[in-house]
Amino acid sequence: MMRQSSLVVVANRLPLDDNVAPDGACEWRRNPGGLASALHSILRQAPATWVGWAGGAGPPRPLPDIGTLRLRSVALTEDELRGYYEGFANSTLWPLYHDAVEPPLFDRGWWETYLVVNRRFAEAAAEVAEQGAAVWVQDYHLQLVPEMLRQMRPDLLIGFFMHVPFPPPELFMQLPRRAELLRGMLGADLVGFQRPQAAHNIAQLATKLLGAQANDRTITLGGRTTRTGAFPVSIDVAEMQALAARPDVVAHARELRGLLGQPRRILLSVDRLDYTKGIEHRLTAYRELLRDGLVKVRDTVLVQVAVPSRERVESYRTLRDRIEGEVGRINGEYGRVGEPAIHYLIQPFDRAELAALYQTADVMVVTPLRDGMNLVAKEFVAAREDGSGALVLSEFAGAADELNDAFLVNPHDVEGLKDTLLRAMEAEPADLATRMERMRAHLRSHDIMAWARDYLSTLDHTGRLAERLARRA
Ligand code: ADP
Ligand code: G6P
Repeated sequence: MMRQSSLVVVANRLPLDDNVAPDGACEWRRNPGGLASALHSILRQAPATWVGWAGGAGPPRPLPDIGTLRLRSVALTEDELRGYYEGFANSTLWPLYHDAVEPPLFDRGWWETYLVVNRRFAEAAAEVAEQGAAVWVQDYHLQLVPEMLRQMRPDLLIGFFMHVPFPPPELFMQLPRRAELLRGMLGADLVGFQRPQAAHNIAQLATKLLGAQANDRTITLGGRTTRTGAFPVSIDVAEMQALAARPDVVAHARELRGLLGQPRRILLSVDRLDYTKGIEHRLTAYRELLRDGLVKVRDTVLVQVAVPSRERVESYRTLRDRIEGEVGRINGEYGRVGEPAIHYLIQPFDRAELAALYQTADVMVVTPLRDGMNLVAKEFVAAREDGSGALVLSEFAGAADELNDAFLVNPHDVEGLKDTLLRAMEAEPADLATRMERMRAHLRSHDIMAWARDYLSTLDHTGRLAERLARRA
């Protein structure tokens, strides 16, 4: 029998290092993805249990605690990995929720697996939650868990947070099992989203599909009310600032500039390799700027960092091939000996290396076609202690609501993207400093702890949950 906790987080992924050392010691693996990055910061020292999948297929592994945080792994078989994670979650829901920028696939078998796996997560959470505990369910992988958990454990306080966009009714209505998915989420006491529009979308859907009484703050169904609202997720600002101030990181940032040939301007992009990130549109814009002589290889470089993601899913494999073909073509046509037009690095980086890259960049280019939030944009701002640097940011990222002093752009409009890149490259330092200071001020008061406090104190009016997190070591 597993020990029980008063706060349980349920997320598809555990943020665990794949290689637990022989002595059982376990390192946080900063999974290159927004959810693990965000939760890592708040739970590292919290008296809580994290229920999730430790990666791979096979029997559950006993996992060591990380400080005061307990880990409870949920195992997946190879078939479940394909049907639930690669199938329904990442080939149906993920593309549909991101404006269908890649066509969503519908496969009837995947639904059954999604149901089975969601039930397994709900059972694991029910097992480790003490009487009256709060259980905080995360993201699109586990949309059925709140309702299942409520059936199993009516004593629990249940929260749900969607890290990705929640689509408008026209898109959601395509889903074959739309009513079940909606009912699943509404099992929660509080459903949180990144942007207010999402709360509006779910209210419309609940009215239309379930006959619920709904507005943008509450949804009442079968005599029970679920609250909804926007809680934009953030980053550990203090951690990024401390990293960026470390002498070795500052020295490395300077060294990177030298290694890149001391160009006049460095453009940087950092993404999970995902079709939602707009990497191809960005490359097209950059190629045309080179072609038209508006950007010259001898004084400007683009560094594109990408980390492989969901590598067995066909659409991700073909995306990688297309991107690598295009980078090769651009470098072949416009690069010079010792001076590539694009430095393409498809590998994970540690936090210090990322902080050095953020400091080296003159223009950070964050141009997703659709993104729930985009933490990379916030990390860049937090790393710019000296107030220099320009942020080019897609209007379609949740972060655009808050970082509206960035150079905002519609990445689907390649001409607009080219103009915006040029404007950011040529901006006056005083203009950049004003913009950067406003964005930094916003982030200082809206960091990851503020997000968790805001969400948890809305979930639990007594304020006990938020207080418990604030008392972390
Ligand atoms: P998403 O959640 O879609 O992956 P976000 O921008 O919100 O997008 O979060 C990405 C997170 O992953 C950030 O914390 C970022 O620092 C991290 N990350 C992105 N690329 C890399 C990389 N190559 N190596 C290490 N971490 C990365
Ligand atoms: C996004 C999702 C997360 C997910 C992450 C990385 O941030 O919202 O739930 O963990 O991408 O994706 P992966 O499939 O590797 O977990």
